Amino acid sequence: MNEKEVLSQLIKARKSYFPRDYTGQPIEPSVLKEILDSAQYAPNHKRTRPWRFTLFQGEQKNQMGERLAEIYKEITRPEVFLEKKYIDIPLKWSQSDAVVAIVVNYSGLVPEWEEIAAVSMAVQNMYLSATAAGVGAYWSSISLKDHLGPELGLLENQSCLGFFFMGSLEDSKG
Ligand SMILES: Cc1cc2nc3c(=O)[nH]c(=O)nc-3n(C[C@H](O)[C@H](O)[C@H](O)COP(=O)(O)O)c2cc1C
Repeated sequence: MNEKEVLSQLIKARKSYFPRDYTGQPIEPSVLKEILDSAQYAPNHKRTRPWRFTLFQGEQKNQMGERLAEIYKEITRPEVFLEKKYIDIPLKWSQSDAVVAIVVNYSGLVPEWEEIAAVSMAVQNMYLSATAAGVGAYWSSISLKDHLGPELGLLENQSCLGFFFMGSLEDSKG
C-alpha cells in the first residue's frame, strides 16, 4: 500500500473502543509514547499549542475513577442516583491501561473555539495513532469532569474537555 492508501485506510478504520473492549494487557510504553507524541503535530493558530495532557496510569488512574464516582454521589439527588452508574464510572478507569485528561489552555491570543479545535485535532492524531498501533481508545466527555479542578491542577485559563481512555485490544499490534 502506498502512503495515501495507508492514510485512507487508517482514517476509515478509526473507531471508538470502550473500556469493556480492553483486554487488561498493558500497552507497550513505546507505543503509548508514540500515541501521545503524535498529538503535538496538530495544527494550532499562532502556535499556542493549547493542549495540556495529563497521563494517568496505575493506582493514580484508579483513584481518579473513584474520585469521579464520589463526585457523582455528592452532586446527585438521592431520588435520581443510580447505583449502576456509581459502579460503572470507576470500572471504566480500572479496565483501561491509560487515561489522558484532555485539557485546553486558553492563551487569550486567539478565540477560545480555535484552541478547542486545535486540541480536538490533537486528539484525532492520538485516535489515528492508536488505530495504527491496534490500541483501543475513545474520548469521553463525561459531564462530571466539570467538577474537577485541583485533581487536574487546572489553572484559571484552562478547562477539561474530557478523558482519552486507552487499552489493549484482543488482536492488538501494540
Ligand atoms: C468531543 C467528543 C466527546 C465524546 N464523548 C463521549 C462520551 O462522553 N461518551 C461516549 O460514549 N462516547 C463519547 N464520544 C465518542 C463518540 O460516541 C463516538 O466517536 C461516536 O459514537 C462515533 O463512533 P466512532 O468514534 O467509533 O466513529 C465522544 C466523541 C467526541 C468527539
